[in-house]
Order: sequence, then structure tokens, then C-alpha cells
Amino acid sequence: MIVSLTSCILVIGRFVRSQDRLREPPCVPPSIPIPHIGHLIGIMKRRMQYFSDIGVTLQEPIAKISILGTNFYIIGSVKIMPFIERQPRVLSSRSWFAKFVCTLVGCSKRSLGNFEANLGATTEGDSMLLEGVRTTKRILNSKTGADMNYDAARIVSERFKTMETPNPGVELNLFEWVKHEILYVLSESTYGPENPFWDSEVEAAFWYVTQHTLALCVTSFLPKCIVSKLFQGMRGREFIVKALDEYLRSGHLVRGSPIVNAHYPIFKAKLDDRDVARFECASALGSFANTVPTSFWTIFHIFADANLLTDVRNQVSAITTTVTSEDGRSIHRIDLRRLRTATILFSAVEEVSRYRATGIGVRLVTENIVVGDGDNRYYLKKGGWLIIANQALHSDKNVWGKDADKFVASRFNEKTPHLSFRGFGNGASACCGKNLALYHIASFMAIMVMRYDISPVEGVWKEPEQDGRDTAAQVAGPVHKPMVRMTLREDVKATWDFSF
Ligand code: HEM
Repeated sequence: MIVSLTSCILVIGRFVRSQDRLREPPCVPPSIPIPHIGHLIGIMKRRMQYFSDIGVTLQEPIAKISILGTNFYIIGSVKIMPFIERQPRVLSSRSWFAKFVCTLVGCSKRSLGNFEANLGATTEGDSMLLEGVRTTKRILNSKTGADMNYDAARIVSERFKTMETPNPGVELNLFEWVKHEILYVLSESTYGPENPFWDSEVEAAFWYVTQHTLALCVTSFLPKCIVSKLFQGMRGREFIVKALDEYLRSGHLVRGSPIVNAHYPIFKAKLDDRDVARFECASALGSFANTVPTSFWTIFHIFADANLLTDVRNQVSAITTTVTSEDGRSIHRIDLRRLRTATILFSAVEEVSRYRATGIGVRLVTENIVVGDGDNRYYLKKGGWLIIANQALHSDKNVWGKDADKFVASRFNEKTPHLSFRGFGNGASACCGKNLALYHIASFMAIMVMRYDISPVEGVWKEPEQDGRDTAAQVAGPVHKPMVRMTLREDVKATWDFSF
């Protein structure tokens, strides 16, 4: 009797535990209350932003929506993030990334197969995607990576010497100015003197594509001849691919960055020939499309706050030496090895990545899995998509404090909640280009703040707002044109350089 009672309790216990293990995340009703298609209409209206809207509104550890039979698990708070980070192969950013990249740049099935091979939880053998990421990491974490920071700073200072100074009275759209200048220095340090982005048509095509990444992905199943008639983004993409193809085939990459040179043989070995330039296009998109808006918002926040601008100028002055040339010109040299001591500058860039984040982190659920603990244990089904709503994690006042909804430039000079900061990702798939991007932006900013004053045409700095609906970038640019006037702070002949 006792034995059968005990067995009965054990069986019931096991059943209850298994039910607990199999609890799916709570379902979220659509914001437009129409059964079956409510979420779909929401997605059509808000596009990428729909997931962030749900995350920010609910701020729940996880919630589920189903669209056309696919489950989307939306993460709106940090509670179960540690469990997600621990399962990079089951909750795989790379499996998603491989599909996304190949759809975006339009590569063949064979290339996609090779790119995404061996990423799953149970597969073995080498993976082309991981080989590419490992190679990038190895370069960026070595002396070559440090040399790339120096090279970037050299290109920045050369650019400032040759760039046309905007006429003092002329009104200009600050975002357009930043887009052009930052794309120039990024592409120049990536591709060298034969940089294909120097062509204004390639540049225009690039901006068009970055603004329409979603449209490119959702129309990818249609024949190219139809899409290219319907949609300029397709023509823009092909234009960039052609320019990169010419660049790679004519061997100009020998004067390009170590990363471009290291990727090329990997791409050549594993991809269809026609897709090599497509993958280079994807690399450029991932790196440039994130760095440019982050640079813009850093400039915006620093110039819009007079005290912050003074702090940044003081920190840059402290690492600058000035000599006067024989013809009476001031020559300023910023010590690049001490650039990191301009702590407010580096912190401001990270704060931009927190405060201005509009992007999402995506993971494919490649196996059935239980995530979380205690009351927050949930069962996720294979084939679902896990969406980390970065905005929700970044705006959580319980984690970031009462001023979470404010831009606090010095925030990252203190200890910050590591797992709640998604600006450059975390864990296995964290951004390996973070340091390079920070140096690019900080070296540009260092000269920018010392050389220019910027004033808004309307007399006060107004919030130009963001719209992250169509872009896959982590930080969306401004919606309204931030019109400004730029003036030099000293004689036009004064120069700014970096010493190494
Ligand atoms: C301000 C500029 C940048 C921002 C905001 C940014 C942001 C991010 C984020 C959020 C992730 C993680 C995505 C996820 O886990 O869902 C990521 C991954 C990645 N980033 Fe960046 N990124 C920037 C610049 C760069 C640059 C310049 C490079 C290359 C030189 C780069 C290369 C990569 C790579 C290869 C990964 C994937 C890493 C992996 O899967 O292991 N990023 N980036």
C-alpha cells in the first residue's frame, strides 16, 4: 500500500513537473483585436518596430505571438537572458543571421547551404560562418586590430584636412553631412584608396538599401526581374554588388583592410563565384549601417548639451599638444594612445547605443528547449523565433534606475548592468567590431568637437525622433532633418592630427 502510494505520488509529481516544463510563454493578444490576422496587421503597420512595441509595453521576461503558424517569443526583460546566452546553438543568432544575410544580398541556395552549414545544436564539423567570425575576432584582438584603430584615426585626420568647410551662413542637414563623412572614413579604412563607396552613385544606392532592408527580404521570393521593376532597392543592391565585384576582381583589396583580405579567400573557397561580392556587400552593410547612425546621435547629443560639449573638449585638450608652424599655423596633435582617457566620449557612444537602440536581437529556436527557472520557466518549440526587444531591456527603470529614459553621457563610466545592455550584443555572438567602431567614432568626434561649433538653425536643439520600422540597423537615424550651421572655431589653416 505504502509502496503504491509512494509510486503514485512520484508519478503525479513527475507529471506535474513535466507540465510545468511544458508551459509555453503567455500569449499576447494583438494590438488590433482581430483574431488570426491582428498581429499580421500590426507587423504590416509597425514592421520591425512591432516586436519592440510589445516588449516595451509588457516588459515581461517572455511573451508569445503567433503569425501564420510561426511562434515569436518576445523577450521584454532581462530575467531569462542568462539562460538564452547559455544556449547559443539551440537559440541561434547565427542560424538566423545566415538566412537573413543570404536573403538580403540575394545569394544562391548553394552559398546559403555552405554559409549556414554546421551551426545547429547537434551538428559537427567546421562552419563557414564561424570561420569568418573567428577570423574577424582574431584580427581585431591582435596587434593588427590596434593598427587598424590607428589607421582609422589617420584617415579621419586626413579627411578633416581636405573636407570642404561648410560656409558659416549655410544651413545643412547634419544627418546627411554625417552620413557622407562617416561613410567616407569607414569605407576608406575598409577598402583603401580604390574604395568603391567614393562613387556617389554607390553611396546613394547604399543609403537606399539600408533604409529598405525589410522590403528587400520580403520580396526575395519573387523573380528578380519583377522585383527590380517594382522596387529601387533591388537595383541599388545590384549596383553596390557590381562595384564591389569589380573592386575584388581587379585585386584592389591588397590595399584594403586586413579583414577584407582575410574574408576574401574564405568567401572564394565556399561560395558561388557570383556571391563573393554579395557577402562583401553584407559585411559593409553590417558595419557601416550601424556605425553611421551611432556617430550621428553621438554628435547630436554632445553638441546639444553645452556642459557635455565643454567636458568633452576639456578631456580632448588634456591629451593634445599644439605647436606653431613657421608660417604661424597652429598644429594640434591628439595623442591617440591616450584617447581612451577621454572617458566621457567613449561613455557617450555606449550611452547612444543604449538610449537610441531601435534594433532587435533575433535567435532561431533550433531544438525544443526549456528556458528560465522558478516561475519563469518556459517551453519554446523548435522552429520559433526568439526576439530580444533591446528597447525594452534598455528602458527598464528597475535595472537602469529612475533616469533610464534620459540620455546620461557619463553612465558607462560607472558599472552598468552588463546583461541588460544589448547595444553591441552579449555572450557568444557579441559584436567583435565594437572596439573598432568605438575608435572610429571617438577619433572622429575628438577632432569634430575641437574644430567646429554647431548651432541649430531654429535656435534650439529639437528632438528629430527615430523610426526603426524598415531598417535592420541597431540604431535608426532621425526622422526630421536636423538643420544646423557649422562654423570653424579657429583659423581655417589650423590642422588637427593624431600622434601615435
Ligand atoms: C556602432 C557600430 C556597431 C553596432 C551598434 C553593432 C552592433 C552589433 C550587435 C548588437 C551585435 C549582436 C547581434 C545579436 O547578438 O543579436 C553585433 C554582432 C556582430 N558585429 Fe557589430 N556592431 C557595430 C559595428 C561592427 C563592426 C564595425 C563590425 C566589423 C568590423 C561588426 C561585426 C559584427 C559581427 C561579425 C557580429 C556577429 C558576431 C558573432 O555572431 O559572433 N560590428 N554587432
